[in-house]
Amino acid sequence: MLILGIESSCDDCAAALVRDGETILSQAIHSQFDIHEPFGGVVPELASRNHLEKIVPVVETAMGDADVGWSDLDGVAATYGPGLVGSLLVGLSAAKAIAFSLGIPFQGVNHLEGHLTAIFLEDRTVSFPFLGLIVSGGHTSLYRVEGFGSYQLLGQTRDDAAGEAFDKVAKLLGLGYPGGIVIDRLSRQGDPQAFSFPRAMTSPKTLDFSFSGLKTSVRYFVQKHEPAFIQAHMADLVASFQEAVVDSLIIKLTQAVTSSQLRRIVVSGGVAANSRLRSRLGEVAETEGLDVHFPSPQLCTDNAAMVAAVGYRHLCMGISSPLSLNAVANLLL
Ligand SMILES: Nc1ncnc2c1ncn2[C@@H]1O[C@H](COP(=O)(O)OP(=O)(O)OP(=O)(O)O)[C@@H](O)[C@H]1O
Ligand SMILES: [Mg+2]
Repeated sequence: MLILGIESSCDDCAAALVRDGETILSQAIHSQFDIHEPFGGVVPELASRNHLEKIVPVVETAMGDADVGWSDLDGVAATYGPGLVGSLLVGLSAAKAIAFSLGIPFQGVNHLEGHLTAIFLEDRTVSFPFLGLIVSGGHTSLYRVEGFGSYQLLGQTRDDAAGEAFDKVAKLLGLGYPGGIVIDRLSRQGDPQAFSFPRAMTSPKTLDFSFSGLKTSVRYFVQKHEPAFIQAHMADLVASFQEAVVDSLIIKLTQAVTSSQLRRIVVSGGVAANSRLRSRLGEVAETEGLDVHFPSPQLCTDNAAMVAAVGYRHLCMGISSPLSLNAVANLLL
């Protein structure tokens, strides 16, 4: 079965063709980096306007790169939440229009289910059940995953998401946008033990996360020191901040392993592309005998292949969405 997936929940306009939920035939993506970069973050109105301009060429590129025609499609899937409503509506409306005109099923996909199960697009060795950590720009949520469609929330952030903390700290330090990639790169030249930042919510009584205190403590650190000192120690500063985020995630994952008795972990979402998180968790997996999986970096961040893959599974289960389906900003999983 061939599914066209469309993703437009934030600042990436993406389309992908996926066969049988696991073989990616093509992926087209238009990044809005240049538009939002001067503002240091995503401007919702500019995002939705740009999606409107790019959605048709992006879909056409994905179709052309996969060398398939409209009549080859078995279904069209699009993210309907969570995300920016104006942006979501563009991809959602395009998907509905294509499905309606072809007389094929349309599937609205929860973006979080896409992240959580993106691993199956490239790693067939993963089996259920597992601990699924979504660590992205809008979420830091830990699930017990028993199978497709069976997700039990174990813990989530009580304030900022981990990716949001990366972005806000990068903005505070004048490092640009998006912050996660910049901090990841610069941290490689820094000492992660140079400065001490707090690890919040370390008690095993909860599997919730918190990152706003860490962000505030970086702000206090900057206020307490001369600008020249901050500039001279920038790599050490961001490496120490990043280490606090990575430690917080690893502390909760190891607590979850103990309480859930699950030894298999799948990490997804934009922050799962972080090189320090990948290497540190890899080391923990080695010493503790855990089975840890990360999608490749391009499948960690927003993409349409994960949307098409979820659409395929819905189609197999006979689930399709009505054309009246609306965009939902705060959709839960
Ligand atoms: N290498 C990296 N290290 C750390 N953070 C990263 C890295 N690459 C991307 N990020 C962060 O990932 C986030 C983007 O991830 P993603 O696209 O999954 O989030 P989103 O779609 O905006 O949010 P959500 O998926 O929760 O709706 C940004 O906050 C970005 O800074
Ligand atoms: Mg995302």
